[in-house]
Amino acid sequence: MKGRLAEFWYGENFLEKGYALDPLKLPLTRQVFSSDGLQGCLGVLGDALPDSWGRYLIKRQYKRTLSDLQILMLDASRQRMGALFFSNTLDDAPSDESHNLEWMLQFSDWLNDNSKDFPEHMEYGSSAGGAKPKCLVNTDEQEWIAKFQPGSEPLDMPAIEHGTLRLAHACGIPVPESRLIALPDGKHVILVKRFDRNDKEPLHYLSGHTLCGVLVNDTGQVINDTRSYLILADTLTKLSSQAQVDRCDLFRRIVFNILVNNHDDHVKNHGVIRSSNGQWRLSPAFDLVAGEGGSRDLAMDIGPEGSKASLSNLMQSLDSFGLTKKEATNEIIAMVTNIRDWKNIFENSGVNINTINKIEWAIQDTIDVSGF
Ligand SMILES: Nc1ncnc2c1ncn2[C@@H]1O[C@H](COP(=O)(O)OP(=O)(O)O)[C@@H](O)[C@H]1O
Ligand SMILES: [Mg+2]
Repeated sequence: MKGRLAEFWYGENFLEKGYALDPLKLPLTRQVFSSDGLQGCLGVLGDALPDSWGRYLIKRQYKRTLSDLQILMLDASRQRMGALFFSNTLDDAPSDESHNLEWMLQFSDWLNDNSKDFPEHMEYGSSAGGAKPKCLVNTDEQEWIAKFQPGSEPLDMPAIEHGTLRLAHACGIPVPESRLIALPDGKHVILVKRFDRNDKEPLHYLSGHTLCGVLVNDTGQVINDTRSYLILADTLTKLSSQAQVDRCDLFRRIVFNILVNNHDDHVKNHGVIRSSNGQWRLSPAFDLVAGEGGSRDLAMDIGPEGSKASLSNLMQSLDSFGLTKKEATNEIIAMVTNIRDWKNIFENSGVNINTINKIEWAIQDTIDVSGF
């Protein structure tokens, strides 16, 4: 990597025994691939980088901004998201060290008073993406992502996320298992089981950001507008081993996001996962938070009216999801019916009534579908 110019080629060994890290943009060939940073055809490598939360930790620890390549080299950790592992030397063995619940409690203490030193064994380069405070944790012999209450946030976000995931599950949307835990300080943390692990085996992951081919300049601004569910659906047609099921899942996810006003549904909150037998599938839905993003539009286009969060906008794009009007209408009716039970589901998930009242505005459970 030189400045922003990044070059990549597969090693001979990998050409023989490996698989295409991105079958659409990075086929398993002898070609030298180059890109402006870890994006475009090299986006799959960028998917292993932390986002603003991890970069905040790095900046505090190293007191300067590190390059993407330096960040990838910080932790030769097997805990890193997805199945990629980065090291300067070929014979470096990945570290298997994972955090337990006790470490997670120390981490939460540090979040409450971050003038203190970092807890030991902090993950910097390998921290999960996203903006909310989080860490990786191993409990009950499973790997989880622990997401904490953001410091400045008045709402109980871990509880709302847990309730929203349980509601999505009730609506037939595949989601990872989650648990809501009360911390000694009274705040909540949500543990979300990692879907990029099959037992202990890491599974390879490609984000929607990479699938959609989003490009950003060196100040982080998007320079092409490919943030679209329709483009994502098209990549599922090409890549997924069960494209029709996945496209329908994606359609349901959009309907759900509209109905619960989850407008933080950006390209990095979607992805595909490569199973142990080499098949690609849409990943379970994650980072679903009712009311997140306020009343703005969705974060990705869904139809001729761009990202406008309306069912009629979505209903004009049914070809992309391989659905007839009747099938789509039935999906929506089923979803609205399931969503009507949202208060019970949230309450049974441990969300307190005060929080439920505060997000009531976000849940649309009285939609009239007769007009479609
Ligand atoms: N259950 C999961 N299994 C594997 N990877 C996940 C899971 N949940 C989130 N991720 C990855 O971690 C990143 C950050 O998680 P996310 O829940 O989106 O946090 P935030 O709320 O900060 O955006 C995601 O962009 C995705 O790459
Ligand atoms: Mg996210």
